[in-house]
Amino acid sequence: SELAASQVLEAPAAAVVPQGPREATILFGSQTGNAQRLAGRLADTLKSQGFEVTLSAMNKYKTNNLKKAGYLFILVSTHGEGDPPDNAMTFYEFLHSKRAPKLDGTKFSVLALGDTSYEFFCKTGQDFDTKLVELGAERIAERVDCDVDFEESAAGWIAAVNGAVSAADTSAAPLGVPGAASIPASAAGESEYSRTNPFMAEVLDNLNLNGRGSDRETRHLELSLEGSGLTYAPGDSVGVYPQNDPSLVDDIISFMKWNPEEAVVTGKAGGTSSLHAALLHHYEITVLTKPLLEKAVAFSGSGKLAELVKPENKEDLRAYMDGRDLLDLLRDYSPWTLTTGDVATLLRKLPPRLYSIASSLNAHPEEVHLTIRKVEYEAHGRDRKGVCSVYTSERIEPGDKLPIFIQQNPNFKPPVDPDTPVIMVGPGTGVAPYRAFLEDREEQGAAGKTWLFYGDRHFVTDFLYQTDWQRMLKDGVLSKLDVAFSRDTDEKVYVQHRMLEHGEELYKWLENGAHVYVCGDEKHMAHDVQAALLAIIGQYAGISPEAAAAYLSELQEQGRYQRDVY
Ligand code: 2AM
Repeated sequence: SELAASQVLEAPAAAVVPQGPREATILFGSQTGNAQRLAGRLADTLKSQGFEVTLSAMNKYKTNNLKKAGYLFILVSTHGEGDPPDNAMTFYEFLHSKRAPKLDGTKFSVLALGDTSYEFFCKTGQDFDTKLVELGAERIAERVDCDVDFEESAAGWIAAVNGAVSAADTSAAPLGVPGAASIPASAAGESEYSRTNPFMAEVLDNLNLNGRGSDRETRHLELSLEGSGLTYAPGDSVGVYPQNDPSLVDDIISFMKWNPEEAVVTGKAGGTSSLHAALLHHYEITVLTKPLLEKAVAFSGSGKLAELVKPENKEDLRAYMDGRDLLDLLRDYSPWTLTTGDVATLLRKLPPRLYSIASSLNAHPEEVHLTIRKVEYEAHGRDRKGVCSVYTSERIEPGDKLPIFIQQNPNFKPPVDPDTPVIMVGPGTGVAPYRAFLEDREEQGAAGKTWLFYGDRHFVTDFLYQTDWQRMLKDGVLSKLDVAFSRDTDEKVYVQHRMLEHGEELYKWLENGAHVYVCGDEKHMAHDVQAALLAIIGQYAGISPEAAAAYLSELQEQGRYQRDVY
């Protein structure tokens, strides 16, 4: 029976004096949901070892309990210029402040998520790791820094942590250490499809949302989920596995005078495909990373590359990698001894691209809609193309199939209570999730007030989903719409200008319990929108900048200020 099973698990604690702590605290800081999902996985495996587990987002955790945490496991991602995720911020600041407690009795380990194409790769995880040692905690398993293709390294870390706790804690039932293979791929196992086993979704429609004469192209992609068992909620994202640009693949192969038909390794299990197919589907060729350049030194006949990767040339290296791709590298540092067999060691796996879902499953059963802006620009004398956006814009038609998975995003969710007012800020493709939010409210017949701030370049050609918003205004699911078309006037107007113009009313909404959502560009827009929110709160609450910052932090902690920014 269940009772007997749990008694077996707990029995050693009663029979033998426990040698170590039987409780584990798992804290995550997660922006897109990956660290959170992995934290859930670690929790499951520790529970199966008989641990009592506290699993929490960092900003929801009562820090008074920290001293009592026998085992502390941190899973955290890094963003932008080495920044912690939104829900890690307050805890990060707490641990790095004078208020941080001594943690002599604590055993810990850190899993860091990041992307080697960024300078401050895994910085937040590294900071936690260093800080915890400084506070006296004992590292029981080495920190693992994961690149974008994190599944395997993360599974390795989880197995190492499990090994470490059963070794340290002799009272643990001898259940054996769960290996990477036995760790479930997803906590919610409703569908067999996941990041590691994508669903081939049929493309139902692929429309350009921009009008004739626009300088931009934005695709509205409708995909079928039929037969997949996949479900999603507003705020979730879809991961798409794209293909590289065939002409870039051809240019690389012909520059290297390789044979496109030669077999190369593509899978861990030693699976192979032709070089051409591998460069098209499997390997990343558009981004340069430091690990890639360091590995490439061994194959370059030009001494200049060895020079470039030296620590003292850090700035030059960063400047070189910025905006360049594999073809640039091959051309700039020839001659090469690189063979097709070395491709697998040199390149990282082509990572999936995440897009905020633009549809409600209730409004469109067995479908998911995406809003994808085509990215094209010139850099270092060549035309550059966004891998996934150009793939879906130029080479995907109705009837084709796309490998996808659902990425749940627990950090971007509409209020549970449909009467709660909602403020949504989303210029450009940042508006996508609000189509999902509002369609869902339309289906529910939700009564709460909603306010959308949208912006793009030109009213006539770039008003994404204009007819949807008009319908929603008419049927009342959208209460207010304010738009900012930045290139229709001499002076630029952005969403935050509209917010400031309506500052008094916006503040009233906040005081009436409104949730605020911001989606889209992180670097400029989300930053400026936050500044506008702070200004509005300061002015209409009549409080200092510090007090306004505290007000906004409080909103964030309550889940009333949520961001999906990239
Ligand atoms: P711009 O390109 O004319 O500068 C979607 O891309 C919209 O976001 C465009 O209208 C773009 O304006 C605008 N945008 C650019 N920078 C922004 C910022 N810092 N804050 C808000 N909107 C911005």
